[in-house]
Amino acid sequence: MIEGRFEEIFGATPEVLVRAPGRVNLIGEHTDYNEGFVLPAAIDRYIEFAGLRRADRTVRAHSTDFNDSVEFSLDDVQKDSEHRWSNYLRGVSKFLEEDGHRLTGADVVFGGNVPREAGLSSSAAVEVGATTFWQKLLGLELDPVYAVKLSRRAENEFVGVPCGIMDQFISALGRREHALFLDCRDLSYRHVPLRGDVKVVVCNSGVKRALAQSEYEVRLKQCRQSVAQLRTAGLAANSLRDVEPEDLETARGALSEILLRRARHVVTENHRVLEAVKVLAEGDLERFGELMNASHESLRDDYEVSSKELDTLVELAWKQPGTLGARMTGAGFGGCTVNLVRADAADAFAEAVRKGYQETLGLKAEIYVCQASDGALAT
Ligand code: GLA
Repeated sequence: MIEGRFEEIFGATPEVLVRAPGRVNLIGEHTDYNEGFVLPAAIDRYIEFAGLRRADRTVRAHSTDFNDSVEFSLDDVQKDSEHRWSNYLRGVSKFLEEDGHRLTGADVVFGGNVPREAGLSSSAAVEVGATTFWQKLLGLELDPVYAVKLSRRAENEFVGVPCGIMDQFISALGRREHALFLDCRDLSYRHVPLRGDVKVVVCNSGVKRALAQSEYEVRLKQCRQSVAQLRTAGLAANSLRDVEPEDLETARGALSEILLRRARHVVTENHRVLEAVKVLAEGDLERFGELMNASHESLRDDYEVSSKELDTLVELAWKQPGTLGARMTGAGFGGCTVNLVRADAADAFAEAVRKGYQETLGLKAEIYVCQASDGALAT
């Protein structure tokens, strides 16, 4: 328990407790930074924060995950390359102050059970947890979407990772038993109920996302390049969100083969998300599963962000009775798959995929049957 750890470390009782969940994305991958659509859910794995105000401007922070402590002054928040786990909290603190929210010093302990580097957004959970922590500690009245944007800014501008907005959004605004349909252009969103007779099962390949960051940046550039070239060819598009599958056919000659495939993934994925939201509301889970499968194929073949391990997990899943759909989730190159499985088949599914993965690749998969959960700012 995070309160207990706080008491051990600081010898006092915390006045504020908050928690921010990790997430799994059901469909809509590599669309957020193209102003497209996503459908993630927050999961029942959290980063928890416990803290107490101080009278000065010092922050003393302890990570239970790294079993490590740091101290910094709010008057001079710098990036720390030795205690990198602390940069999310530092970034959030710095940008809140820059935006005119005067903070006080604090003693804070945080950590939890969101697996790291597994594509389940543990860093977004730390950022959103940190923003929520300051909000509660100081009674700040932050607009929820502003809190999401500030958390993402810590990742983009302070930590230096060019992610989209999906992960912070869902960690803050997820809802129990619901997925969240988000338009990453205007940030309008809607919660979509998930049915109780199916389970969201996450299979962790155990492979850290080694290539994820560099390849992510390459994809980001390729998407921008393809828009620039489509515009030169006369298409009125500000992002791939504005491009329709027919446009790609017409403008085929304008793009290199590789840019065409990258763009085709994003353009078709946006359509899949829109259809997925519609069929989910209608209760057509078979079709929802087919869309997940098609998303995987597109990520594997057109966007090329899957891996041998992820493909193996997905192919094993496709063979199991009760599987409605399976795909890689998150940035790719390792991390996890997400599977929609009939509730009464979920245990057998987990067992069979674990065994098959061990037999095929000699690797151990961790499997989590997840509950869609409330985000840190859920009211
Ligand atoms: C990572 C990023 C997200 C999103 C996904 C891919 O999780 O943090 O913003 O781009 O990859 O869908």
